[in-house]
Order: sequence, then C-alpha cells, then structure tokens
Amino acid sequence: MAPKTSTVTDDRAGKTEDNVADNTLTITDNRTGKTYNIPIENGTINAMALRQIKVDPDDFGLMTYDPGLGNTASVKSRVTVIDGEKGILRYRGYPIEQLAEKSTFLETAYLLIHGELPTTQELEDWDHQITHHTFIHENVKKLMDGFRYDAHPMGVFVSTVAALSTFYPNAKKLDDPVHRRHQIYRLIAKTPTIAAFAHRHTIGLPYTYPDNDLSYAGNFLNMMYRTAQDRYKPDPVLERALDVLFILHADHGQNCSTNAMRAVGSSGVDPYSAMAAAAAALYGPLHGGANEAVLRMLREIGDIKNIPDYIQRVKNKEVRLMGFGHRVYKNYDPRARIIKGVASDVFEVTGKNPLIDIALELERIALEDDYFVSHKLYPNVDFYSGIIYEAMGFPVEMFPVLFAIGRTPGWLAQWEEGHLDEEQRIARPRQIYLGSDERDYIAIGNRG
Ligand code: CMC
Repeated sequence: MAPKTSTVTDDRAGKTEDNVADNTLTITDNRTGKTYNIPIENGTINAMALRQIKVDPDDFGLMTYDPGLGNTASVKSRVTVIDGEKGILRYRGYPIEQLAEKSTFLETAYLLIHGELPTTQELEDWDHQITHHTFIHENVKKLMDGFRYDAHPMGVFVSTVAALSTFYPNAKKLDDPVHRRHQIYRLIAKTPTIAAFAHRHTIGLPYTYPDNDLSYAGNFLNMMYRTAQDRYKPDPVLERALDVLFILHADHGQNCSTNAMRAVGSSGVDPYSAMAAAAAALYGPLHGGANEAVLRMLREIGDIKNIPDYIQRVKNKEVRLMGFGHRVYKNYDPRARIIKGVASDVFEVTGKNPLIDIALELERIALEDDYFVSHKLYPNVDFYSGIIYEAMGFPVEMFPVLFAIGRTPGWLAQWEEGHLDEEQRIARPRQIYLGSDERDYIAIGNRG
C-alpha cells in the first residue's frame, strides 16, 4: 500500500512579502485530514512546530529526518555568510576577496570575534595580546614529548589542545567575559606553537620557541624551520602567502568542525575541550584532511597521461576526486580562485611544484566532463592549498594542522556566539529508531 502523504502549501506564493499573516505554511495531514498553519521566519519553519501534527493524542508528533543536516538551520548566526550558488563568502559582511587582498590574519580574527574591524589602537592591543600568549607551559611540552616519534601531528594537535583545559581551569567560567577573552587570546596565540612543536617532535628536532618580534605567520615559520640561525627571517612573500591562506580558512559557517565546536560547546564545557572536538572533526579526509588526500591523490596519478584513467575511476565511483565538490558551493569556491593566485606568488620564490601541472590538467578535464558538470563538482579550497603548502616545505601530515590554525578564530567566534545566544540549547538530535522491539534477556547458555 502506498504511504499516506501530507499536502504542503506555501501561502506566500503570489502574495506580498510585507503581509506577515501570509508568511505561513499550510500543511494538511492526509492521515487525519487536519490542517495546520505554521509560521515562516527567515525562510525557515521551526521544526518544533511540526510536533503538534499527530494522528492521535498518544502520537509523539511529526519530526524531520535530515542526515548530515543538509537542510536544517541549527543556529542563527551573524558571523559568516555563504551563497553557494553565487560563489560568495563574507566574514561579518566583508567579501573574502577584499579581506584576502587587504587584511591580515590577525585583523580578520579580530573581525570574526568582535564583529567589526578594529581601530588602529584596538588592532595594536589585539596583536599585543595574541603575540604575548604564544608560549606554552613547559609541562605541555613534556606532554607532547610523550607521543611516539611518528605520531601524526594532527593527532598530537587534537590531544594537546584538549590538555590545555587542565592548565587553565578558569576556562570553565564561561559567563565571565574577561575569562572568555583570555581563552580566545590563548587559543589563537598557542595553536601555531603547538602545531610547530608537533612537527618538530615527529622529525626529532628541538622545539623552537616563539619569536614575538615576528608576525603571526612569520613566527610560525620560525618555529617550524629555524635551526642554527640566531634569528629567523621569514621570506616576506611566503609569510604573506601563509597569512592569506589562514584568512581563507578562518571561518566557513556551520561546517562539520564548527558544528562539532558548537554542539560540544552547547554542553557548557570549556572552549579547549570543545575546540579539541572541532579539530578532531577537521582531521577527517572529507573535511580538513582533504588537502592531505589531494596531495596523495596527485602523487598517485603521477603523470598527466594517467589523468583520463583516474577520471574514469572517479566516474565508476571507485574513488572520489579529492579537492572537488562541496556541500554548499555548487558553482565555484571563491577561496579556490584566490588560492590559485597565491600559488603563483609562492612558486616565484620556491620554484614550481611539479604537481601543479597535474592539478591544472585534472581541473581542466574535469570541468569539461559531463559527470562533474552535472554533479556541480568544482575545485574547493583544498584542491590547491596542499600544493602550495608542499612548495613551502610543509610535510603532508601538517596540512590539516595548518587548516586548524586558520580555522581557530572562526571556531571561537562561533562558540562565543552560541554561548551568548539565549536560544542555544544543548545539542540533542532525535533519531528514527528501527531496532528490535522489546524482548526478554536470554541466558548465555540458551542462545542459539
Ligand atoms: N568526486 C566524485 N564524485 C563526487 C565528489 C567527488 N569529490 N563529491 C561528490 N561527488 C558525487 C557523489 O558521488 C554523489 O554522486 P551521486 O549523486 O551520483 O551518488 C554526489 O556527487 C553528491 O555527493 P555527496 O557526497 O552527497 O555530497 P556532499 O555534499 O554530502 O559532500 C563533500 C560534500 C565535500 C564531502 C564531497 O564533495 C567530497 O567528498 N569531496 C571530496 C573531499 C573534499 O575535497 N573535501 C573538502 C571540502 S572543502 C574544505 C572543507 O570545508 O572541509
């Protein structure tokens, strides 16, 4: 028997937008014949409004099923807007193209956290605070020493960020704005230190302490690469390129890791623990691990002549074309366009990464192919970032860690916004239970 359906009418159709009474949705439940009017606000209906739709008083009420939350707004946010059809990304209203060209990562971080661009004095104070929180407790260093010599730096990063909560117990005072601000300074300041120490641990080099006379990106390069020099002088082109890459990664709405940050943060835990969860989500190959996966894929392809075969394997669904596709962008990813420009600046200094030729040809062929066009698959931010990172000397294992450094202010801005939002409730989705009905326990000897 065909399932009974419900009829849904959008009462706004053909009516003026300013007639508030018309901003409703009429749902007829064909199981009961009852009709419901549900308000539409900001292009959404409140999912709880569906709960009144029942077949009888004992019925739990209607829910929505949305795996991956593809059509569910879980928060109201003022941080970042993305228009996936038009390829638009703006932080606090400012287009990513303008920020990448004119801003710095620390100024962009200020913007994300505070909602407005800083004055000269505010920026000086902010830079000073971040710069003077870059050192980590010596016991954090000892903790990092305990990892195996070949530990993946992202695993080390996730664990060390979590461990910071034990060093700053005041981080639990979520309702105190001064304490909240201190944890924000610390996390933005210390992530490059933890990242660089994680790298140096895996290659067996002594840790390089922060140099607070350098810029944010310059100091990170110093901690990564300084060996025998008295002072490390970052190449200004590479320093700026890294700063721009951090800007491009700084926030991206309710992506998988930010959703984790908000969901874990909604329990009232401290921001270090919440950010460890966010970083863990970022580690996955479908998210921040994709840039690492792109590099491995390009190496596997190895030569331009092997691209058609690889494309065929993608179309046969044997493999995915890493660095392609996005849940939101269905036209192009504006960050990918900016990154291509950064790549040429970097190659002027480092020499060309030979993988770029494979990447460009892969992109050219894919964009002409029906499969990719019909699936609206375009290069995303990760398609080119890994090639640049490799040219700058970063090992592939560090790529997701670099993403995490850039994303830190976004996670924190979103976490604080959630904490201050009176509508935030602990994240607790529903499920459709399809398991066994009630049954009696069977003693082990009686099981078949
Ligand atoms: N290569 C080949 N086919 C793909 C790809 C891809 N990269 N991405 C999606 N598809 C196909 C998929 O097979 C499916 O086809 P069909 O409808 O015929 O079954 C269709 O496109 C929709 O795929 P989906 O998995 O339902 O799409 P999604 O929105 O759930 O996934 C994504 C988005 C980013 C996880 C996915 O595109 C992907 O796996 N891309 C490769 C990994 C990647 O580059 N991730 C980085 C994302 S950008 C940085 C970040 O924010 O993390």
